[in-house]
Amino acid sequence: MSSLSLGSDRDRVLSHAAQIVSRTWAEFDVARDTQPQTSPELKKLLAQGLPQDPSDPIAALDIAAEALDSSLAQARPRYLAYIGSSGLEIGALGDLLAHSHDPNLALDAGAATDIERQAIAWLGEFLGYNNAQGFFTSGGTISNLTALVAAREQALPNSRSTGMGSNTLALYCSAEAHYSVKRAAEVLGIGGNNVRSIDIDSQRRMNPAALAQSIDTDRTAGIIPMAVVATAGTTLTGAVDAVDQIADVCGDIWLHVDGAYGLPAAATKSAGPLFTGLNRADSISIDAHKWLFVPKACSALLVKNTGLLAQAFSHNEAYIPHEHGDTNAVDITLEYSRPLRALKLWLAFKVHGAQSVRDALEGNLAQARMLYSMANEASDFQVLTSPPQLSTVPLRHIPGILTQASDSQINEHTAQLQLALVADGRIYISPAQIDGNTWLRPCFTNFRTTNEDVRVTFDVIREVSNSLVNN
Ligand SMILES: Cc1ncc(COP(=O)(O)O)c(C=O)c1O
Repeated sequence: MSSLSLGSDRDRVLSHAAQIVSRTWAEFDVARDTQPQTSPELKKLLAQGLPQDPSDPIAALDIAAEALDSSLAQARPRYLAYIGSSGLEIGALGDLLAHSHDPNLALDAGAATDIERQAIAWLGEFLGYNNAQGFFTSGGTISNLTALVAAREQALPNSRSTGMGSNTLALYCSAEAHYSVKRAAEVLGIGGNNVRSIDIDSQRRMNPAALAQSIDTDRTAGIIPMAVVATAGTTLTGAVDAVDQIADVCGDIWLHVDGAYGLPAAATKSAGPLFTGLNRADSISIDAHKWLFVPKACSALLVKNTGLLAQAFSHNEAYIPHEHGDTNAVDITLEYSRPLRALKLWLAFKVHGAQSVRDALEGNLAQARMLYSMANEASDFQVLTSPPQLSTVPLRHIPGILTQASDSQINEHTAQLQLALVADGRIYISPAQIDGNTWLRPCFTNFRTTNEDVRVTFDVIREVSNSLVNN
């Protein structure tokens, strides 16, 4: 037997790993009040050079478990920074299984390919995006880029071979679109300067009239509109662009919906109407590793017609079989080797059922509305003028002594408060710059977060903020 096999140790190692995981999941059920620091012994271990000789796998797993326990875990219920992940238990097991078999989804992998197709179909049904085809990628950045490669080929046929010559192409998105849209324009050779940053309305959604105007101006100047990217849940505030109205403006221009963060809410009763028109998009991206709770990395790109992706991506390499003109996954994807990312989402739907997922989403939406109401009703908190569309609640705490303070003093206080909250350790919240001011930006995307966690979050912000000015 190879010395790289665990051999007769397998069962012992596996049951030890299972104990570690079981303990970890139990700890995640309730928030902890401090973030453990990395011990000096662990720090020393983590600075050692390459081991040449074998060591006990149980001891090695224990070191890994300790390192992870003192890492910042997004899966904890009061981790409300950025757009967190939850590490859904059945999803983690899905990864273990998928990585143990390690199929390559580049070509037809048999039933594993059927699982990917079924997971995409289920996702389309869940979101109300009919007849969905597509595949899983490593993240929203790659899903967005992949869609835009196809959009470029549609806007300027054969540009994948000839380049863009003297043509200028333009891309349109809201002023608060994720930077991956600009990155895609840079990578594709469209040029970051040809990304039109369209004005937003009072609810921070792309203004469709301004979009139409921008497209007209470009067409008059001989510039080819390549694609419009609507954001279904901006990273900054969770604003959902009006997809239906934007689709009216697009006509035959490729419409991509970046729903990396917010799209799961399309499946809910309370927020679903915000996504009207989704079915009209040529492509949509969604990160299941954000608000569908499964572990990273699990993004999906859904399209109506994979033929358009094939026009942009297919290759006829001698070592890839193309029997009967079949399209392989690799003919429509940016990546070649692809793990079975679909399995964790497939298991999540299979084990918990779509209704439990909807309920968890509604739970997060309700928590965001609850925090917004608490802050809105308190004289020492500030919120944005409109209530949260999704699960992001930008807010600020203004201690009594700062009531008359200038914007810059309040910004400074908020920046200090965010650092003090991280040092305090009971909750974890990231900062954000909105209209030139500094805000705290709690975001609820974790099925483990409870309403009690929301109350604690509110109280801890107030307590730490007041203690900053009283010391
Ligand atoms: C709206 C939006 N699009 C795209 C992305 C990029 O996703 P990923 O980090 O999975 O590449 C993000 C990440 O936060 C996002 O919020």
